[in-house]
Amino acid sequence: MSRQINSVAVLGAGTMGSGIAGLCAERDRKVLLLDVSMEAAEKALDRILNGRPPALDTPEKASNITLGTLADDLDRIADCDWICEAVIEDVETKRALFERLEPLRKDGSVVSTNTSGIPLRDITEGMPERLRKDIVVTHFFNPVKVMRLLEIVPGVDTTPDVVDTLASFCGTELGKGVVHAKDTVNFIGNRIGCYWMLTGLHHAATALDEGLSMETVDALMSGPVGLPPTGLYGLIDLIGLDVMDFVGKNLAINLPAGDVGADFTAFPKAEQAMLERGQLGRKSGGGFYRMQKLGDGSKKKETFDLKTGDWRDALNIELDDTHRSPDGLFADDAEGRFSWHTMGGTLSYAADLIPQISDDVVNVDRAMRWGFAWAKGPFELLDALGPDRVIEKIEASGLHMPKMLDVLRNAGVDTFYRNDGTEFLGVDGQYHPVPAE
Ligand SMILES: NC(=O)c1ccc[n+]([C@@H]2O[C@H](COP(=O)([O-])OP(=O)(O)OC[C@H]3O[C@@H](n4cnc5c(N)ncnc54)[C@H](O)[C@@H]3O)[C@@H](O)[C@H]2O)c1
Repeated sequence: MSRQINSVAVLGAGTMGSGIAGLCAERDRKVLLLDVSMEAAEKALDRILNGRPPALDTPEKASNITLGTLADDLDRIADCDWICEAVIEDVETKRALFERLEPLRKDGSVVSTNTSGIPLRDITEGMPERLRKDIVVTHFFNPVKVMRLLEIVPGVDTTPDVVDTLASFCGTELGKGVVHAKDTVNFIGNRIGCYWMLTGLHHAATALDEGLSMETVDALMSGPVGLPPTGLYGLIDLIGLDVMDFVGKNLAINLPAGDVGADFTAFPKAEQAMLERGQLGRKSGGGFYRMQKLGDGSKKKETFDLKTGDWRDALNIELDDTHRSPDGLFADDAEGRFSWHTMGGTLSYAADLIPQISDDVVNVDRAMRWGFAWAKGPFELLDALGPDRVIEKIEASGLHMPKMLDVLRNAGVDTFYRNDGTEFLGVDGQYHPVPAE
């Protein structure tokens, strides 16, 4: 039986906190929004009203939001049904806040922590049993209003009704696509997405040595495999090399022993040099690409050529028919090898992570569609490629057979979904109904 959420306390009014507060206020919930100072809280309200995009569609609903400070107003969480922590990504800061808030909140309230990478168990270790039962991770994506994905992660002691309450409220009221993840490093979306990006940079370095251009790399890692047009380098420009470096370092510490991602947590040489000189991406005026303003007011796109170490005009790439479809992964040329190693490698990685990061293929596919805007999730893409062809290529390469491909092979079936996508293949080798979105 899920609990009612009529009032929300959002603690930390930065990028994520202001987004969550705006969304809840839009849905007519009373929101208490606290930060380290009144100035910071007021800045957040300004972002909620005037940000790009504003978090509130209906400015009058800002009256649902009460501002305050963590120092003076924390006791007001006693009235709130959901206490949603969204302070900086620092385990000690989060733990100190939970220690202060636990005695102040009412029985029956639910609690969540927004973290991109800190395991929930590290945040709740040694905390009172009531908190450990009532808390989950809510991993919203940025911008909160725009991104559909919300990963909910329970701890070992979390009671199921807390998960149900937040999944139901965030799904129905906040319009999020809820994915159920486990308390493992980077959860689902970022675990697979970051593997794709970090391994992609290394495989791309080889592809550039084989004569491909950076624009070809991005063309291959976008439309042909159903990924957004930013491709590989373009997406990392958007995220920032500094953020990717932070993610890589976190993975290096927290990936389980034997994880194949451990070999790819550091940048290739050229990207490391970019990071060191502050060439971080769009936020620093340019990374792999930049826009140059010309004298006549028009703009020109330039590429930082990793092979020459110099800026040049960006190329327009037209892929041929073979490489324009997912089948390009099987092509015996530099393009095919790069696509196979990067995309095929990521699909294999995802297929090996069940049940470690998710109980089933459905949550993985949804995480990648809703959080990374992939047209198809990894298992849907495997179905489009033909899992038997992928298995054959993995066998021919003498590589380890990923768990879910092994399950499929042993079950003697040839797709992860059947009956128009209404049933999925479970780890038990049986088909099960796909739960409603
Ligand atoms: N930004 C993202 O893309 C994103 C995505 C998913 C999850 N997250 C996670 O959400 C959380 C919040 O991220 P964000 O991007 O909103 O960060 P942010 O830096 O924009 O906001 C953090 C807020 O915490 C406040 N703060 C700073 N020091 C504090 C302290 N000692 N005690 C209490 N509050 C303090 C700051 O004033 C700030 O308003 C982090 O754990 C982050 O990893 C962020």
